[in-house]
Amino acid sequence: MSRRRQIYEGKAKVLFEGPEPGTIIQYFKDDASAFNNQKKGTITGKGVLNNRISEYLMLRLGEVGVPTHFVRRLNMREQLVREVEIIPIEVVVRNVAAGSLAKRLGIKEGTPLPRSIVEYYYKNDELSNPIVSEEHITAFGWAATQDLDDMMALALRVNDFLTGLFLGIGIRLIDFKLEFGRLYNGDDMQIVIADEISPDNCRLWDFKTNEKMDKDRFRQDLGNVEAGYQEVARRLGIFQEGAPAEHRAAEHRGTKTVQ
Ligand code: TMP
Repeated sequence: MSRRRQIYEGKAKVLFEGPEPGTIIQYFKDDASAFNNQKKGTITGKGVLNNRISEYLMLRLGEVGVPTHFVRRLNMREQLVREVEIIPIEVVVRNVAAGSLAKRLGIKEGTPLPRSIVEYYYKNDELSNPIVSEEHITAFGWAATQDLDDMMALALRVNDFLTGLFLGIGIRLIDFKLEFGRLYNGDDMQIVIADEISPDNCRLWDFKTNEKMDKDRFRQDLGNVEAGYQEVARRLGIFQEGAPAEHRAAEHRGTKTVQ
């Protein structure tokens, strides 16, 4: 880690210059924060789990044609990703009322929504990431109308795919946050999923008991935070039988990967 150039340090990750131009290394920390950094803590092992969970979900999304910045996992805490121009909008997709939606609109947590709802938040810590509309986004030039159309379409595809994937392992996908980036290739530009997809930015409830298995355990002081993340990884088949998930998936497809 020492000789690499650090590009950025966020709340849960550090970004380093990658080995080739146009690549970045994401290092996953155990640090956790909530409520716009007002609550801080450490979840032992979180970085290792999120690195694996995000790798797994990005690979599965890639297989169904959803473009992401993910290239490959490098080690327990690091993954190689493509360098993208991050769009300063967080896209939240909600299936069930929880968190800020439940609070803002006075809807009881756990109420299924009549349909999936997509929300946009302006990425700005000083302003505590305020909710914004398409009008704000295009008027202030944070993203073009075409970018937003692509982001919305991708977010809904991710929601459909992940809802089914998690349902298959007894987990309800309540809501999640995505970040997007512009990936340039010569004159071409493609909008891709960036950042990470993990229990840090998804709400995941056990299907039978509604037990929370995500960062709400930290936000709400529910205890056993790491166990929640571990259970998500275990159900996804990560870390089982000593074989990383990508090996078993490759075996399932009849191909092998080399670590
Ligand atoms: P919210 O209910 O607090 O608005 O969160 C909605 C979803 O977005 C939830 O799964 C957590 C995730 N999220 C982040 O990943 N980062 C954030 O900064 C916020 C506010 C939410």
